[in-house]
Amino acid sequence: MSQETTILQPDAAGISQAAALLAQGHLVAFPTETVYGLGADARNGRAVAAIYEAKGRPSFNPLIVHLHNTDVIQTYVQWSDAAEILASAFWPGPLTLVLPLKEGHGLSGLVTAGLDTVALRVPAHALARKLLAEFGGPVAAPSANPSGRISATTAAHVLSGLGGRIAAVVDDGPCPVGLESTIVGLQGAKPTLLRAGGLPQEAIEAALGHPLDLANGADITAPGQLASHYAPGASVRLNAAQANGDEVLLGFGPMACDLNLSETADLVEAAANLFEFLHQLDALKRPIAVAPIPAHGLGRAINDRLQRAAAPR
Ligand code: TXA
Ligand code: MG
Repeated sequence: MSQETTILQPDAAGISQAAALLAQGHLVAFPTETVYGLGADARNGRAVAAIYEAKGRPSFNPLIVHLHNTDVIQTYVQWSDAAEILASAFWPGPLTLVLPLKEGHGLSGLVTAGLDTVALRVPAHALARKLLAEFGGPVAAPSANPSGRISATTAAHVLSGLGGRIAAVVDDGPCPVGLESTIVGLQGAKPTLLRAGGLPQEAIEAALGHPLDLANGADITAPGQLASHYAPGASVRLNAAQANGDEVLLGFGPMACDLNLSETADLVEAAANLFEFLHQLDALKRPIAVAPIPAHGLGRAINDRLQRAAAPR
């Protein structure tokens, strides 16, 4: 069903309107430090269902629940020592924890897609925090892009993918991190890296004092990890030294190219530019070649997203 998508300002009036729309069961996209999220009241099954509908998302894909703080978190999940260590080290921030659900949690079953765990995150972005405080409840929010497409890091990306399908977007400029949150599973015996993201693996391992287990692809507990994801319309070729034929080149470090993720080879800058630049190159409707990106720190998450963008589909 088509509807008018309102663009809200990141001021007190815009935030109250966004919170009121969420309370009425509508969908509101809002910025977080990682990417724009497509928010709905996580306790309202109809509102959560509308997220899947707007994104055209396979219904087995569970969503991340966003909280203002950890005050009532233990009404939703079983807390643990590892959860306490990671939450106090990195929240608010770009880390998502998957924890066992508690009986009587009150979240819509659609949020977890029927799993007995839920993904939780306390975001750091000032606007997101104000919105969560004013709404006063858990907000389910996947990245605000149509399923299988590049994540949105500006309100313009949200509108180009979901305009006419959601009630509103709060426009507070580009997202500073530009990559989705890192997801750590705490439901098993050992903390497991389920998705590389905006918080480097090394930082998490330093806080825990031991290495993370790495999720084994055979058992997909984070379906966002399906191989072909984050895909631009055009084909993508990785580790390219130069553009061939009709290709446009996405560079890294000092080099000749069409767009450069970071001329100074700064991985933080590259992460923040990644999705915006893929959107820009995708709009040219030519094949995309991408220069090699080092595989440490945020480079791991950047390479993960690029490999998914390049996967055969
Ligand atoms: O940075 C982010 O994480 C952004 C912002 C908006 O917070 N959100 C985001 O959501 O990237 P989404 O839905 O695009 O990705 C969520 C990922 C998916 O891969 C999903 O399968 C996984 O989290 N996930 C959610 N609940 C899970 C669970 N209970 N167990 C394992 N994986 C889960
Ligand atoms: Mg996503």
